Amino acid sequence: MDITLQEWENEYGINFLKKVGIKKNFVVLDFGARVGHYSLPAAKLVNPKGKIFALDKNHEALDELKDKAKTNTLSNMKIIKTDGEIKLDFPNSFFDTILLYDVLHYFDIEQLRKLFSEMYRLLKPQALLSLYPKHIEKEDYTLPQIIEVLKKHNFTKKEKVCDHISHYNSINYDCVYNFYAERIKTGKDN
Ligand SMILES: C[S@@+](CC[C@H](N)C(=O)[O-])C[C@H]1O[C@@H](n2cnc3c(N)ncnc32)[C@H](O)[C@@H]1O
Repeated sequence: MDITLQEWENEYGINFLKKVGIKKNFVVLDFGARVGHYSLPAAKLVNPKGKIFALDKNHEALDELKDKAKTNTLSNMKIIKTDGEIKLDFPNSFFDTILLYDVLHYFDIEQLRKLFSEMYRLLKPQALLSLYPKHIEKEDYTLPQIIEVLKKHNFTKKEKVCDHISHYNSINYDCVYNFYAERIKTGKDN
């Protein structure tokens, strides 16, 4: 299937992110957004009231994304330049969805624990954490190990969503994995 990046950003990516579970008006964090192959279709999908926070430590890539957002007249994209820190300056339960796409392999397993804990803090109850676990074989862990760590941080696995999707600058058939931020019931809830 031949899909250009432009077709991905304007059409296929929007449909894919709908299938993943992102809806109109959602507030979404794209952690490790790079030049926005997911942020751009996500911004189009959640328009007009939803917002995309495209975060990266690669500031040049974010400058490119900012220009693309301007060309696409997307005023609902917020660019967040960081120095790679895991703890972020957002309040608790701020996001409806967080994307961790093709970024896990930048972290070792200890850092992943911290990352998932922070993502849990930032997500609304039962909200969606979607992972695209590329290149993890480079690190010393596997997808089942990641799922175990996520379980310990109260994420439950819901579905695997497969399709032709963007990877770096091309489109391939691959899968992302959805998890939900369960809220633990305390004695008072029972
Ligand atoms: C391979 S790209 C993936 C881009 C995009 N998510 C996609 O799937 O098309 C990974 C991006 O994650 C960013 N990244 C890695 N570690 C990060 C961190 N600790 N904080 C912010 N961005 C990070 C890199 O700078 C890079 O731009």
